[in-house]
Amino acid sequence: MNEIIEELNRLKKEKNAVILAHVYQLPEIHDIADFVGDSLDLSRKAVQIEADVIVFCGVYFMAEIASILNPEKKVLIPDMDADCPMADMITAEKLKEFKSRYRNPVVVAYVNTSAAVKAESDICCTSSNAINVVRSIEGAGDIIFVPDRNLGSYVQRVSGVEMGVWSGFCPTHNNFILPEYILEIKKEHPCAEVLVHPECRPQVISLADRVMSTGAMCKHVKKSAAKDFIIGTENGILYKLKKDNPGKNFYPVSNLAICPNMKKITLAKVVDALANMKSLISVAEDIRERASHPILKMLKINMQN
Ligand code: 13P
Ligand code: SF4
Repeated sequence: MNEIIEELNRLKKEKNAVILAHVYQLPEIHDIADFVGDSLDLSRKAVQIEADVIVFCGVYFMAEIASILNPEKKVLIPDMDADCPMADMITAEKLKEFKSRYRNPVVVAYVNTSAAVKAESDICCTSSNAINVVRSIEGAGDIIFVPDRNLGSYVQRVSGVEMGVWSGFCPTHNNFILPEYILEIKKEHPCAEVLVHPECRPQVISLADRVMSTGAMCKHVKKSAAKDFIIGTENGILYKLKKDNPGKNFYPVSNLAICPNMKKITLAKVVDALANMKSLISVAEDIRERASHPILKMLKINMQN
């Protein structure tokens, strides 16, 4: 293990590379990353980075955002097949058709979308700023939210803003984090705080003490007086929560809440990508330019949520 890490450090220096990782990554990736964060943290980081190469350990759309914001840098994803199935539930063609059903539509695209979909959108959001993004929209047009129906309906309930919501979903959050599991764990740990991600079903959200992005969960646990937490999101976050909070206890809602695509990135693939400068993200310039506007618009608005 030490040899592979030495090799990685040598390559990072030689190529002037930084490693960004989403919090759902494997522990071996958390341990070598220069920065671990949620989607919003990573998008923000991507605009600040001073390096020639970004190795992005996450799913494709995340690396694509880094590339859209840094056209002069090389962005590598160590496994090109690390897709987000929810992002694949809407295409630019389907979005155009959906827009045609609304009056002066304003499209809010969750960052879990392709560059082509972002290019057809007005503003992006992540799970940590979605409510503020929707509240920031002015004008008389209809608001459309794509592609996550769970995040979309949560934002509608909290903001009171009516939207046309696409019916995509995250298989990991929607299918494996279920209300009955929370009720079961609560019987054993009645004082535990229940934290869930807004990609979960409404029935799960209604059982939560707090609904938050992965980044907000990490911050909240550190300052909460609670000792026990029931965690309703992808289980990769548990490694960071345990590492940052050794005196606290974490109970995943389900052991099945694993995103298989996030787990495709391994340390060996990171070294291979950097050594051979392979798996380079490339976005056609016209799409890149159009997709950059809704992302930059999102990054400009107040992120408190
Ligand atoms: P975060 O914005 O909380 O990082 O979530 C991204 C994601 O893909 C959740 O499934
Ligand atoms: Fe996509 Fe769900 Fe995996 Fe997040 S956890 S990357 S939304 S499939």
